[in-house]
Amino acid sequence: MAKLVRGFRDIFEPQSKNFTELENCARGVFSLYGFGELRLPTVELKELFIKSTGETTDIVQKEMYAFEDAGHRQLAIRPEGTPGVVRAYLENNFTQNAPVQKFYYIGNMFRAERPQAGRYREFEQIGAEYIGNAAPAADAEVILMLKDIVAKFGAKNYKVKINSLGCDKCRPLYRQALIDFLSKEKETLCENCQTRLEKNPLRVLDCKLDGARFAGRVPTMHLCPECQAHFDEVQRLLKGKIDFEVDPMLVRGLDYYSRTVFEFQAGDASQNAIAAGGRYDTLIKNMGGPATPAIGWAMGAERVILSRGEVARPKEKSVCVVSLEKDCNETAFNLMQALREAGVRTEGGLFEKNVKGQMKQADRCGAAYALILGGDELSKKVATLKDLQTGEQTQIAFDVLTDEVKKRI
Ligand code: HAM
Repeated sequence: MAKLVRGFRDIFEPQSKNFTELENCARGVFSLYGFGELRLPTVELKELFIKSTGETTDIVQKEMYAFEDAGHRQLAIRPEGTPGVVRAYLENNFTQNAPVQKFYYIGNMFRAERPQAGRYREFEQIGAEYIGNAAPAADAEVILMLKDIVAKFGAKNYKVKINSLGCDKCRPLYRQALIDFLSKEKETLCENCQTRLEKNPLRVLDCKLDGARFAGRVPTMHLCPECQAHFDEVQRLLKGKIDFEVDPMLVRGLDYYSRTVFEFQAGDASQNAIAAGGRYDTLIKNMGGPATPAIGWAMGAERVILSRGEVARPKEKSVCVVSLEKDCNETAFNLMQALREAGVRTEGGLFEKNVKGQMKQADRCGAAYALILGGDELSKKVATLKDLQTGEQTQIAFDVLTDEVKKRI
């Protein structure tokens, strides 16, 4: 029998409803903040992610679904959305015509990570990118927008952590201080971190094996006056509007960040970031565009849904049309369509089955009423509406049928 690929999932109702609710909630908030939807392709040139997400990141080194197509192009199924947004922004000349852009996207991302609770190989991200605004207010705005979405959706017990990674002026000094510090502990580092040490020492702080050991002991970042002023202002703007904590260990696992980075974290599990993001003021220039500041985030839909937990939904009432005889099937079918046209949720159509089978269907789909049509009814141009809770039956004439059913539903 055909089998599902490990790390991928089929999502049935009611779980699939969670996604629709979160997406609708996000769309509502995006519209309040003036963000417009950008629908991106799932496949990009592999090179795009190497250049932006970063050659030394886990995502690019180990997790990317990359392949060569029939035209010998090196492609990748997107592991994240930001590089595609920047490519689209540059390729469509926004830099000249309308450099300030607020985009949002909703789509599935793919990473060949080891699957576990809250970590999947295909997962949904809802993301936002605010391009062209260098002000600390933009940082505060996108963080508050993210909070509005998760709070409105009902996510619970999450903490907001922020940090500043500085800029090209202050980060190299910090990098060196980290290399000096970590080199003394080189033998104790995991295999990955031993290689990270030279290439990307900040990532050691983010390592699941080594990171926690260094909390409180590693040298802290000394921001240049401009970065410090920026970070102070972001915090000042956020105070009183959202609870947050400054975490000097928050470094993020992607290469393009500068200045403000942040994560919304739920629970204590290792896969605890329900959403994350930050500034990437040099990425657009590095990708061949003019120097353009930007900031954004992406939430993992599955993780936001997990943090909300199960919700009870009121049952939606429906009617199930049952045909007692072959001669009634066509009228029954037409009734189903008429009811749907009138806005009534309608099941039915298993007319090949006997009455017992059809009533079973009504029960299984949770219908509140069965609308029964037999030869007797057909000749009188009526149908029998049976309340499946009380068993009460009423005959209703065809010409008032949709109105009468609507009244009860
Ligand atoms: P990221 O931290 O790699 O950042 O992913 C953002 C969020 O996607 C995570 O916080 C998590 O909720 C979710 N996520 C990541 N991997 C998985 C997985 N394997 N299974 C389930 N959920 C997952 C980015 O992707 C950046 N593009 C965010 C950004 C936008 N920064 C600036 N703009």
